[in-house]
Amino acid sequence: MLNCNTLIRNAIVLDGSPAAPAFLDVALCDDRIRALGPSLQCRAQVTIDATGLTLAPGFIDVHTHDDTSVVDSPAMLPKISQGVTTVIVGNCGISASPVRLSSEPPDPMNLLGDPAAFRYPTFSEYVAAIASAQPAVNVGALVGHTSLRNNHMAELDRAATAAEIAAMRAQLQEALDGGALGLSSGLAYLSANAAPTNEVVELAQPLASARAVYTTHLRSEANAILDAMNEAFEIGRVSRVPVIVSHLKCAGVANWGRSGEVLSALDIARGSQLAGCDCYPYAAGSSTLDLRQVDELVEITVTWSTPHPEMAGQSLAQIANAWQVTQIDAARRLRPAGAIYHSISEQDMCRILCHPATMIGSDGLPNDPRPHPRLWGTFTRVLGRYVREQERLSLPNAIHKMTQMPAQRFGLAERGIIRPGYFADLVLFDSEKVIDKATFSDPARPSEGIAGVWVNGVLSYTAAGATGHRAGRFLPRGMTTWIQ
Ligand code: ZN
Ligand code: CU
Repeated sequence: MLNCNTLIRNAIVLDGSPAAPAFLDVALCDDRIRALGPSLQCRAQVTIDATGLTLAPGFIDVHTHDDTSVVDSPAMLPKISQGVTTVIVGNCGISASPVRLSSEPPDPMNLLGDPAAFRYPTFSEYVAAIASAQPAVNVGALVGHTSLRNNHMAELDRAATAAEIAAMRAQLQEALDGGALGLSSGLAYLSANAAPTNEVVELAQPLASARAVYTTHLRSEANAILDAMNEAFEIGRVSRVPVIVSHLKCAGVANWGRSGEVLSALDIARGSQLAGCDCYPYAAGSSTLDLRQVDELVEITVTWSTPHPEMAGQSLAQIANAWQVTQIDAARRLRPAGAIYHSISEQDMCRILCHPATMIGSDGLPNDPRPHPRLWGTFTRVLGRYVREQERLSLPNAIHKMTQMPAQRFGLAERGIIRPGYFADLVLFDSEKVIDKATFSDPARPSEGIAGVWVNGVLSYTAAGATGHRAGRFLPRGMTTWIQ
């Protein structure tokens, strides 16, 4: 008879593919899935009766800014409590490594922490820090274009010179050799906006031979979004690199209703190259406070402010009113600051969320004292609100977007699907009850309906909370099996 550590009996198994569920037993041995099948004969140290519960591969949060929190807050409660077992860090052009700061981190690198949080001048030092911190979740890492610019350019409001590009490329290559998943950019931000398309094309060259990906916070998510998408796809085409558009959205009231044309631009690109996107299930975004987004139409909530911490939690309109100034003047006084922008239409967001090329990524900001609720609620909100309550997408399809699809695209070997021999990253949940509890006014609340989370075979979270065992690892880039 088979010996195993854990036997999960009679679960409704969604294996990560879009296929229909099956009632199966799953046996775990050490860090792997040992066997699955109906009525497994197995001698187990721990047997769990999962009748009525759904078992899926652990969720992969493809868009995070958890770079420093996986080391500094390794319990990773906001993520493990919603069933996430892997986070991909380094998005939007900002990664914590490789970084050498000469003064304050440039906006928006400050989202990742204060200067003391940037202590990984090389990618291998970051990998070592993850190994010694032992976070509760696995970590895959992108290298940020803005971080590379910070390392090699004295001022960021211009294009990089040929010598600077060569230095950035060498540093990117070193990180790729150390297992980085690819390059991210944040061309909308002023710290990278002056970079011409060609600067990114030059940097994308080592990605092709490494079979790594390019992810991008587009140069514009508002009026000029189609130009920005074309730029992203062009970079992928000429470099022969897959493109992932980060947190795809139509931002700003004037752009509400444009998700149809945006998704057809994506579909056209997908006809001739590997392209996809990620999305969070909220009609509001969050980042540093950007003067270009202050238009008196979009409702903006200030989440933190260095000169005026007392204003956190208030709307920019309220603050402007109290100070008897315009919103733009109030924003100038508040910066550096963080903000939530209610700048997306729910309908557009839903359409993008349900598109077959879309993965789920929280874009959560763990260092924000009043974070956007997506940090704690993204995955359970998709399952509870958009699958169960609104029936916008099927449960197998939603799970696929959170598991196999990202594992294939990012080259996370032997993860993202429940299969014998694969790593035992698993989440057990009640599909009738699972729901996010985090709200804009009370954002740090764990979800409901998550019964068990295993990371590399170790039970790390149950309905009673974290178990105290942390078994996450750094995940080096494997072979991408993205076939579209
Ligand atoms: Zn972004
Ligand atoms: Cu982001």
